[in-house]
Amino acid sequence: MARTVKVVGIGGSARPGSTAERALRITLAEAERLGAHVSLISGADLAMPLYDPREGANSPQAQRLLAEVAAADGLVLASPAYHGTVSGLVKNALDHVEELRGGDHPYFTGRAVGCLAVGMGWQGAVNTLTALRGVVHALRGWPTPLGVAVNTESTGFGPDGTCTDDRVTAQLAAMAGQVVDFAHRSPAARELTPVT
Ligand SMILES: Cc1cc2nc3c(=O)[nH]c(=O)nc-3n(C[C@H](O)[C@H](O)[C@H](O)COP(=O)(O)O)c2cc1C
Repeated sequence: MARTVKVVGIGGSARPGSTAERALRITLAEAERLGAHVSLISGADLAMPLYDPREGANSPQAQRLLAEVAAADGLVLASPAYHGTVSGLVKNALDHVEELRGGDHPYFTGRAVGCLAVGMGWQGAVNTLTALRGVVHALRGWPTPLGVAVNTESTGFGPDGTCTDDRVTAQLAAMAGQVVDFAHRSPAARELTPVT
């Protein structure tokens, strides 16, 4: 039975329309083109109190994040390089995933997770990509074979959100394909929706 899978994108910066958010939107658009249901947590949706294990998910933003992750069949994470690694905003959002440690599918278990990082240079972008993939491992997810590092010194985005670099666009699309493909294969794809 064919099924519709849900892909959730998390990341960007506090600034709506940030470069990381634009790259994330391109990735999600490709996942949608491939038949996935997609949703985005970015900008103000990422702004939540610092994670405190004693408090749990004590904000509407954190509660939405956890609900979306719990329902996801695949994920995409996106972060700018801040001082050589994942931004505090994105890392704090991911820290909240600790609240999903229980149940049959704790954290990112069984889900493919595409990672993309944006930096003003290669060193920060690549290191941030590696850090994101490390977080995915820690959360028991499956980083896609392809991760994408975007260097804003050589790659830009137009006002309509399109990327000026065809190779980066192709990489984001390939990563989206890997997330969707794995979501269809994984037993963790729980949303079994017949496609007519
Ligand atoms: C606080 C801060 C720290 C940054 N540190 C780095 C860094 O270490 N390496 C790097 O390549 N870019 C760094 N940048 C640049 C951002 O990664 C880059 O501008 C961003 O990814 C582009 O996204 P934007 O559209 O939000 O500006 C930093 C930017 C800020 C605001």
